[in-house]
Amino acid sequence: MNLVEVSGLDKTFKGGLFEKSRQVLFDVRFALPAGETCGFVGGNGQGKTTTIKCLFGFIRPDRGEIRFFGRPLGPREKKRIGYMPERPYLYEFLTGREFLRLHWSLVGASGDFPAACESILRRVDLSHAVDKRLRSYSKGMLQRIGLAQALIHSPDLLILDEPMSGLDPDGRLLVKEILREEKARGATIFFSSHLLQDMDELCTHLTVIEAGRILHDGAVASFRNEHPDLEKAFRAWRLKHRGGLP
Ligand SMILES: Nc1ncnc2c1ncn2[C@@H]1O[C@H](COP(=O)(O)OP(=O)(O)OP(=O)(O)O)[C@@H](O)[C@H]1O
Ligand SMILES: [Mg+2]
Repeated sequence: MNLVEVSGLDKTFKGGLFEKSRQVLFDVRFALPAGETCGFVGGNGQGKTTTIKCLFGFIRPDRGEIRFFGRPLGPREKKRIGYMPERPYLYEFLTGREFLRLHWSLVGASGDFPAACESILRRVDLSHAVDKRLRSYSKGMLQRIGLAQALIHSPDLLILDEPMSGLDPDGRLLVKEILREEKARGATIFFSSHLLQDMDELCTHLTVIEAGRILHDGAVASFRNEHPDLEKAFRAWRLKHRGGLP
C-alpha cells in the first residue's frame, strides 16, 4: 500500500513585470510505500521544496493529483502527518515547551502533552533548553526543535525537508538515529536531501528529481546494480539517462 500518491504535478511560477514565467515542475509523479524510509534527492533548485509545498497546498500546483492514505488531504489526514519545513517559521519569543504546545494543539493531538514533550525533547537532546526562548537557541538547536514539532504527535507519516542540513556530525548522527527509531515504530518517512550519503544508510526507496522531472521512483537497490557505492551509482545513472552531468 502507498501512503502518498502524486501524479501529473505541474507548477509554473508566474513572472512579474521584468521576469518571465517559469515552469519548475513537470508531470511530477511518485508513490511512497507504507513503512519505508523514502529519500527525495536532487541538487539545489531542482524542485524538492516546491514539490513538498505542493503536497500540503502551501503552493498551488497548476495541475496534478495528490493523495495521502488514499484520500485528498483533509483534517483527518493532517493529524497523521508530521512536517518539518526547510525553513521553519519559529516564534522566537516562545520557549521550547510553548512552541511544542502550539504545534500539539495545531495538529489537534490529544493525550498527555507534558509526557510527550519531555520524551521528544530528550530524544532531540534539548531537555536542558525546554524553558529557554527560541531566540537564544543556536541554529542546530532550532533545527532539532523543528524536528521535535514534527514528531511530537507520533505521526504515521513524516515529511521532512532537509532535516540534516546545517547540523554538525553529532547532530546528523542524532537525526539519523531518530529516523531509524521512527521507522522501527512503523512510521513512513519521506525526507529530502541533496546528499546521497544521507540516503545510503537509511533509505529503501528513492525518488530522484532533476530539473523538475522525476528520474527515478523506486527501490534503492536498483541504483546499486553497477556500483556498490550509491553516490557512484547515481552519477553513472545520471550520465546514462541525461547525457552528462551539469
Ligand atoms: N516562490 C517562488 N517564485 C519563483 N520561483 C521559485 C519560487 N520558489 C522556488 N522557485 C524556483 O523553483 C526552482 C525549484 O526550487 P526549490 O526550492 O523547489 O528547489 P530545491 O530542490 O528545494 O533546492 P534546495 O536544495 O536548494 O533547497 C528554483 O529554480 C527556484 O528558484
Ligand atoms: Mg529546498
